[in-house]
Amino acid sequence: MKPVAVNAASLERAAAAVREGNLVVMPTETVYGLAGDATNPAAVARIYAAKGRPKFNPLISHILDLNQAERHAHLHPVARSLAERFWPGALTLVAPRRADSDIAELACAGLPSVALRAPAHPVARALIGAAGVPLAAPSANRSGRLSPTHASHAAEDLGEEISVILDAGSCPLGLESTVVSVSADGVVTMLRPGAIARADIESVAGPVFDAGASNAPTSPGMMESHYAPRARLRLNATTAGAGESYLAFGAAGPPGALNLSPQRDLIEAAANLFAFLRQLDATGAKVIAVAPIPREGLGEAINDRLARAAAGR
Ligand code: TXA
Ligand code: MG
Repeated sequence: MKPVAVNAASLERAAAAVREGNLVVMPTETVYGLAGDATNPAAVARIYAAKGRPKFNPLISHILDLNQAERHAHLHPVARSLAERFWPGALTLVAPRRADSDIAELACAGLPSVALRAPAHPVARALIGAAGVPLAAPSANRSGRLSPTHASHAAEDLGEEISVILDAGSCPLGLESTVVSVSADGVVTMLRPGAIARADIESVAGPVFDAGASNAPTSPGMMESHYAPRARLRLNATTAGAGESYLAFGAAGPPGALNLSPQRDLIEAAANLFAFLRQLDATGAKVIAVAPIPREGLGEAINDRLARAAAGR
């Protein structure tokens, strides 16, 4: 895929691709991002597939401003002060996710928190505005490679699954955003150092804890535990036992079963995973039997997530 110059026509093509659930590469002031509609679980699954990540790491959703952010997260006054000081810009806020946010659960990797950033780059802002949805966008590199600061880096790294690569030259900052979590009760934790210095964050938020540091206070809002079903999970189950509900893949299961993908399409399966687990859990079944999922492509991340859900109760 060849990068294209940014103009009204290429921007509209990119926005249309996003609205259709496809992926584009967009410049931001930090690094280039691989962007898709954050509210569309299939688009989010395509991002993980294109990046070749072995796990569903949570993604940053890009919005225009604090107003939009408040639709998706419960922002403590400290989080609001940080946004007012550093947005638009290289700050990503991780905060408790609102139950009525339409950002796909897959974009948050099943966490009860959501990561939000209002970028400053005019092209990113134009694309968010034209697409009309929050854009989930990790750095536009394959997993394990360096973050791309030129459109050509993204083009070399990513395959033909990208609809449009918008080329706006080199990224002014060239370093990823600083990721800061602000819990429901206002505890501020540095999750990833980045383009905004810790001292600048602290000048607004006061002392910032390091993730995992022994002096970090524990608070309910800080526990980043993944959603785990109440039901026990039985993995690699080729059939459902008596009283078990069934999560199928490929061949249909017994009546009441949900099928992650009748076509054995791993992107479709990833898009359905969280919603289907919740649906089966809501039936009150004691055990959810899960069909074997192949370990190729996104299957690796799906199996990783299922293993955590099976163990994490
Ligand atoms: O500058 C940037 O942040 C770029 C541009 C494109 O915006 N994006 C970027 O995304 O670097 P990515 O996916 O490569 O890194 C996102 C970081 C990861 O370290 C991830 O673990 C963290 O943000 N993150 C996202 N959501 C989180 C959450 N709910 N809880 C904890 N960490 C989260
Ligand atoms: Mg990255």
